[in-house]
Amino acid sequence: MKRMLVTGALGQIGSELVPALRARFGADAVVASDIRMLQKSELSNEEGPSAFVDVTDIRHIQDTVRRFDIGTIYHLAAVLSAVAEDKPQVAWDINMGGLYAVLEVAREYGCALFVPSSIGAFGPTTPPDFTPQDTIQRPTSMYGVTKVAGELLGDYYYKRFGVDCRGLRFPGLISYIAPPGGGTTDYAVEIYYAAVRHEKYTCFLRGGTKLDMMYMPDATRAIADLMIADSAHFKHRNSFNVTAMSVTPELMAASIREYLPDFEMEYDVDPVRQAIADSWPNSLDDTAAREEWGWKPEYNLASMTRDMLEKLTAKLNVDDA
Ligand code: SER
Repeated sequence: MKRMLVTGALGQIGSELVPALRARFGADAVVASDIRMLQKSELSNEEGPSAFVDVTDIRHIQDTVRRFDIGTIYHLAAVLSAVAEDKPQVAWDINMGGLYAVLEVAREYGCALFVPSSIGAFGPTTPPDFTPQDTIQRPTSMYGVTKVAGELLGDYYYKRFGVDCRGLRFPGLISYIAPPGGGTTDYAVEIYYAAVRHEKYTCFLRGGTKLDMMYMPDATRAIADLMIADSAHFKHRNSFNVTAMSVTPELMAASIREYLPDFEMEYDVDPVRQAIADSWPNSLDDTAAREEWGWKPEYNLASMTRDMLEKLTAKLNVDDA
């Protein structure tokens, strides 16, 4: 069997996707790559092949694909929305330059390709509630511009060159292993760290800001399921809306208080991230993913909060009294 290559393997998604894929397909089948050198213990106890790959250098990707006989690339290396807004030129180079290089390598070597899109691919003129799969996409952030362009490029490479490129529009992803890399939805991760440390949390989004979220185990399962799905049933390919819950900071705090009744939250709004959040949908309609490849989340807010608090308490080694 040909191997799989994960770019950005040390990022928030990669840190959990690599062990999930290794558990499913065997440790040797998955090559973890990043622009940082991987330490042995960084991804999981289970060892597997790794490589140094700067996705903006096509030769790194070509060499790695040849060396490890790669059949599928999970291209996760990218910068998130807040960082992209701070450094739009860098975001273009990494998000678009990296994707273009990976698509070219996939074309050249006949690889299948997974590319994450995002709720960031929508904008202020998108219908905000129960946002349809096919709708207006005029994002106003650089992150969003790269995500829409990425969706279109994926479609183009499939139609023009037959590259089996597939994607998901992820909501904010919540996890306890690696931190997110500077996104607008990061509050939904930070809030759990503060709660477990018995600290008051200062939220950078305004109360009432509604956004979709998903727990990482659902996200990694969605990626793996999408990539093995029979595309005969696809009406879409890049990129499926997927979601697990639509929440506000207050709802998250209330869910935490079920376990930690003294948890407190205040607000200190960051205007840049608030403007990005305000331009994104309140909730997504993920019917197409459910119908075309059987997507269904396992975690809701309550079950995610229970698991996050338990896992983070163990990880940070603090009393949950
Ligand atoms: N979590 C991402 C961000 O906030 C959205 O895709 O940038």
